[in-house]
Amino acid sequence: MKTAHLLARPVMLTTAALLIATTLPAQAEQQVNAAARADALVKEMTREEKLQLVHGFFPPMATGKPGAPTDMIPSAGHIPGIPRLGIPTLRESDASLGVANQVEQRKGDVATALPAGLATAASFDPTIAYQGGAMIGLEARAKRFNVLLAGGVNLTRDPWNGRNFEYLGEDPLLAGVMAGEAIRGVQSNHIVSTIKHFALNAQETGRMVLNARIDEAALRESDLLAFQIAIERGNPGSVMCAYNKVNGDWACENKFLLTDVLRRDWNYKGWVMSDWGGVHSTEKAALAGLDQESGQELDKQIYFGEPLAKAIEKGAVPAARLDEMVRRILTGVIENGLLENPMPDAPQPINYDRNALVAQKAAEAGIVLLKNKDSLLPLAKAAKRVVVIGGHADVGVLSGGGSSQVRSVGGAPIEIPLKSGPAASFARVTYHASSPLKALQAEAPDAEITYVDGSNPAAAAAAAKAADIAIVFATQWQTEAQDAENLVLPDNQDALIEAVAASNARTVVVLETGGPVLMPWADKVGAILEAWYPGQRGGEAIARILTGKINPSGRLPITFPREAAQPPRPEPVGLAQFKAAEAATAAANPGGGSNAEVQSFPVDYVEGSNVGYRWYEAKGLKPLFPFGYGLSYTQFTYGNLEVKGGDTVTVSFDVTNAGKRSGADVPQLYVKGADGKPARLAGWQRVGLQPGETRRVTITAEPRILANWSTDAHGWQITPGRYQVTIGRFAGDSTLSADTTLSGRQMKP
Ligand code: BGC
Repeated sequence: MKTAHLLARPVMLTTAALLIATTLPAQAEQQVNAAARADALVKEMTREEKLQLVHGFFPPMATGKPGAPTDMIPSAGHIPGIPRLGIPTLRESDASLGVANQVEQRKGDVATALPAGLATAASFDPTIAYQGGAMIGLEARAKRFNVLLAGGVNLTRDPWNGRNFEYLGEDPLLAGVMAGEAIRGVQSNHIVSTIKHFALNAQETGRMVLNARIDEAALRESDLLAFQIAIERGNPGSVMCAYNKVNGDWACENKFLLTDVLRRDWNYKGWVMSDWGGVHSTEKAALAGLDQESGQELDKQIYFGEPLAKAIEKGAVPAARLDEMVRRILTGVIENGLLENPMPDAPQPINYDRNALVAQKAAEAGIVLLKNKDSLLPLAKAAKRVVVIGGHADVGVLSGGGSSQVRSVGGAPIEIPLKSGPAASFARVTYHASSPLKALQAEAPDAEITYVDGSNPAAAAAAAKAADIAIVFATQWQTEAQDAENLVLPDNQDALIEAVAASNARTVVVLETGGPVLMPWADKVGAILEAWYPGQRGGEAIARILTGKINPSGRLPITFPREAAQPPRPEPVGLAQFKAAEAATAAANPGGGSNAEVQSFPVDYVEGSNVGYRWYEAKGLKPLFPFGYGLSYTQFTYGNLEVKGGDTVTVSFDVTNAGKRSGADVPQLYVKGADGKPARLAGWQRVGLQPGETRRVTITAEPRILANWSTDAHGWQITPGRYQVTIGRFAGDSTLSADTTLSGRQMKP
């Protein structure tokens, strides 16, 4: 390898790269044909250089090993660049909720932690998603990362999925729009974002072995549609394929996903990188459309190193395919301006105070008020004695575990290692230092606000009895690599809430959960707030909502079941088998960690495209809290609906703030055809209104939501005929409704 310019700064470019980089005015960068520029670079590369770009190091396992670069940042990935061609080293970090630092090798290195993806989705506000992404990207660049493993958009098919908190809920339009905006935000910093995990990584139990089964039309109308919308909107430089199999083939060697859908149908130009440890072959993967093997030390062997070189030599993989892999990597890199905007030589200062406000705003917009009997909230001035109970609310707020874990500014007041299980090697129960108790004391200085830890329900109940109001913080920790075994709040917290509510009807429950939990006490408490994992300013956000400084405006991006039997699967498929394998491994090798060998098993997505609220409608089930639901401290009314049909549905209507506080509402457009399929969310708008203010809102339906996928015709088809159009506050609500006629149309994939 030629390294003559390795140390040269600024980066030295070869003739081709230089020509292209300097003859173009900066503002025309977007219009540049990145693929052509990439092609010009590919033509200058040696076989060895090309091979170097198609597999990457996993720094935590590679650092110090023979042949490993010495300049790796110990995070998720490192692909050495080619200085003589001006191709930068790709430094990858996880970044779903902030610049992650799961491996703890950069002690003391912190970043701003956003709330859970579900909280961002609950804002129904694309701007919140964009600003979060832009903030993460800014910090990432200052830390010298240029590829972010962000953009998680797997639909919530199961309420117990361990990674729901990282994702954006159960609806393909909402998730797609929000993921697209988050990606756009990240990439506004001239760095690459991924979108992940392509596709159907919908449960964590057995994620490395399971075979997700679903028919093509159902997949196109659900999970793939979320990816498609997000890719159109955000144009991520890279797509990360998933661990699991989809209809029999590993996602990272799945020709249907990686070539037929992504390239042929969607015309995607960037690169496909594998998930870490998700590659199983050389030839099959390369020919199916995988462009880069990530975290190579985690695979059984480095499939895209020596074995790929040999496969090319013997003609099993055409040399042109290697060129294509590299061209796609460089296309993603060039499109995002990485060549013209090199990484800083050293870490740069970060304005953490400003970024904390981005996190706080997202939390405030995403907290959902689920119940508020007799306007118990906001806390009345008359509430002089307030007791805060449980959830470690005296020191912080909970975060989700796994590769998305951010070690947040302010540190972690609580960090509990796991004793066993698939997440034990890399996840810890971690709290961000943002105490709801202290924030509440600061917001309501005239009240006497005390804390009891909730470990003793009787003591908590006694404290509640002596108070004007009791606020119980209930938590459910979720993590990557394992699912919740059920939806019951752990550690006897239901009993705690029951005891407190029995002694004081003025009980508020604040939930910090990774998704839905069952609430057997829902009828007995006065108010319920779903705060998700609210990020590093979660305490402040919760306090400001409780006291009414902020009027809650979040809406559920995911259905909350009334009982475990309501969703399509009551518990993780393969759970028993998985636990048995783990127990056998542990018995054979006490203290040896968790490397259970589990056979592949199928997961049949019997709900098809009827994910989430659509399943509830199809089955005639009434959830505890429906998708789209959320209350406010004011009231909104809707009126004067006008509906236009034709090619798509367009609605106009008035939204009025009929209450006494300013606030934001999220009217939702649902459309249902004559075929009896459940209604689908076809659009929404978040509207901020002053008391008494009325605004006319117009929403145009995303046409693919009105269509069905036809595998025979290979495209979308809107059936001509009558459609029921509803403006609702949540799925199943029909505050305003009308019929309209659609003319019917075919659309390409
Ligand atoms: C996760 C990915 C993550 C990668 C790198 C995998 O285990 O599934 O989401 O980006 O690790 O940390």
